[in-house]
Amino acid sequence: MGLFSTMNDTTPRTMTLAGLQFLQALASKRQSGCYLEVGPLFGSSTNAIDAGRSSTSVEIHTIDTFEAAPWVRQRLGLDLSREAFDRYTKKIKNLHVHQGFAPDIVTDSWSEDIGFYFDDATHGDPGWTNNYNFFSRFFTKDAIICGDDFAGGWPDIVQNVYRITEAAGLKLFVIGRVWAFTAENDHRISDAIHDAFPKLKAFDLEVQHKDQTRRNIAASWSWGLHKPEAIKETVLHAPNGFEIEVDMERQDGTRDRVNWGKEPWRPLGAKSLEFTLPEDYAIQFCVKSSEGKTQNTKDLRSGAQLELQPGDEITSLRLSHL
Ligand SMILES: C[S@@+](CC[C@H](N)C(=O)[O-])C[C@H]1O[C@@H](n2cnc3c(N)ncnc32)[C@H](O)[C@@H]1O
Repeated sequence: MGLFSTMNDTTPRTMTLAGLQFLQALASKRQSGCYLEVGPLFGSSTNAIDAGRSSTSVEIHTIDTFEAAPWVRQRLGLDLSREAFDRYTKKIKNLHVHQGFAPDIVTDSWSEDIGFYFDDATHGDPGWTNNYNFFSRFFTKDAIICGDDFAGGWPDIVQNVYRITEAAGLKLFVIGRVWAFTAENDHRISDAIHDAFPKLKAFDLEVQHKDQTRRNIAASWSWGLHKPEAIKETVLHAPNGFEIEVDMERQDGTRDRVNWGKEPWRPLGAKSLEFTLPEDYAIQFCVKSSEGKTQNTKDLRSGAQLELQPGDEITSLRLSHL
């Protein structure tokens, strides 16, 4: 496996580079069954799965209509077609392409155990759930289930993924917009995150919402992403000497300077935030507006400022290494 060859892949793509790196690392953690991808477009995500696959003898199945759509030409400058997909994925061995609408195109024929499911096809319901309900019957016990676009603009994905993971008591990981969970050995997902983002391996974030405090890997979004619940307090667990200084002005005009990493930071009521942090590191937030809409900020490097409106609340955060 050429780890992080996604960086050099020139296939037109809609996923972020961080999302593709995570997908590749996740693919290396499959333990049983085949790979199934729904919605490869030109094959950027298929190439990432292939790059992570530990053995080319394990089959990759992929399903797409390969129909040209105006948004694809507008965004990527070329039309989708089966020929274009074949061109960008010609090096992938043991790839089974199902051309048609999922899940209908395979409902009468599918029989494979699925150990790795990646969904980047229909982003709303009923399509998303139709795919999940059909294919989940074939998931192996330790299947890694993942997909793209866990984002405020795709509320069905956010709600469905929370509903499924919360009902089963499973831990949810989100990097970029790629979400992932598994019912067995979820340390494989933490390991994938560490493989993909080794510079953040020694960092954890602890966040408190209402009465519950949760701790997770700092590279993955903390609990609360696109939830309507504000972070009351957060603690950064970082290697000795790593500090983030937060200069905070509150909506009521009071100011605070917090050496986050040495002391907890309470972001409630913030109006203006400025961060000082080591070079190449950045911090990102999910902010809920007073109307209840959530949106992620960009990666904020040292010196960056974040302005918040009255009623805005930070619901989740993560660290990145750029
Ligand atoms: C957002 S794009 C996928 C991007 C791709 N994963 C990448 O890495 O660039 C969505 C793709 O899903 C396909 N699609 C959407 N719904 C589908 C369905 N129900 N069955 C098959 N393909 C579908 C579209 O044709 C399109 O190619």
